Amino acid sequence: MNPAADLPRTVLITGASAGIGKALAHEFACHEFDVVLVARRGDKLQQLEAEIKQQYGQMAYPLVEDLADPDSPQRIHDWCRQQGLTVDALVNNAGYALHSDFVATEWNTHRDFIQVMMTSLVHLCHLFAPAMQDRGYGRIINLASIAAWSPQLKGNLYGAAKSFVLDFSQALDLELRPHGIHCTALCPGFTFSEFHDVMGTRGSVSKLPRFLWMTAEEVAREGFEAVMEGKPVHVTGRLNQGLSQVMAALPASLKHYLAKQQKLM
Ligand SMILES: NC(=O)c1ccc[n+]([C@@H]2O[C@H](COP(=O)([O-])OP(=O)(O)OC[C@H]3O[C@@H](n4cnc5c(N)ncnc54)[C@H](OP(=O)(O)O)[C@@H]3O)[C@@H](O)[C@H]2O)c1
Repeated sequence: MNPAADLPRTVLITGASAGIGKALAHEFACHEFDVVLVARRGDKLQQLEAEIKQQYGQMAYPLVEDLADPDSPQRIHDWCRQQGLTVDALVNNAGYALHSDFVATEWNTHRDFIQVMMTSLVHLCHLFAPAMQDRGYGRIINLASIAAWSPQLKGNLYGAAKSFVLDFSQALDLELRPHGIHCTALCPGFTFSEFHDVMGTRGSVSKLPRFLWMTAEEVAREGFEAVMEGKPVHVTGRLNQGLSQVMAALPASLKHYLAKQQKLM
């Protein structure tokens, strides 16, 4: 922690209404951060607001926004300024996956996906990083995935989006580190959350053995530690660390072959 940073510190977390984002809100609050909670479901955010206040005595601010709206990042930034909130940490966590073929999927669906998974994430970094730079302190976590290294799924943008987040986050860390800002690409593997329900793959992934899975709380704990330690990339769990190293070392031709064999999703 930066001893010069004024207390209280504030973190803004997108996708805080469920899963890893919700767990990260608890993790930051238990380390004395106030939390700005962004997602579309206001009832879930209000519930979390009450939990945070009650369990940790920290301030929590629910903010209903749809990150598929290109104006949303600017509105979030303006709202924080109007509330007089100084955002010291930013967690770009909101995300989902599509479970459909590329060509068969409406363009508007792809457009929204790209907006949520990449454009809004980059825009929020661009909006909040300058003030962090001025203060000489900032922490940014961008949710990537071990899917950034895995063989691609047929016609699916998810792995490509996560590869982008992985590369962008490392580049941003290089630029911001001299200004006291750490940026971490957090790369979970299979994690218990609403993710597979939203994607519609709960039936198939629930057949996978328990040892492949982590809890959202475990992912959040590792993510918090990683960004505070200044790791540009952190893969959660030893098994996922081993898997990502193997996948990163595979020749492209073998990855393509493996991708063609995939039936899981
Ligand atoms: N679970 C996994 O196995 C896994 C593995 C690797 C990486 N990840 C990544 O981890 C991140 C969190 O996923 P999760 O597993 O916690 O999934 P989750 O339980 O489904 O949570 C996703 C969160 O994103 C929010 N969200 C989705 N679309 C949004 C939009 N248009 N605007 C604002 N918020 C939106 C959802 O809130 P609302 O619905 O209330 O808007 C929810 O809070 C994602 O980036 C995902 O790609 C997950």
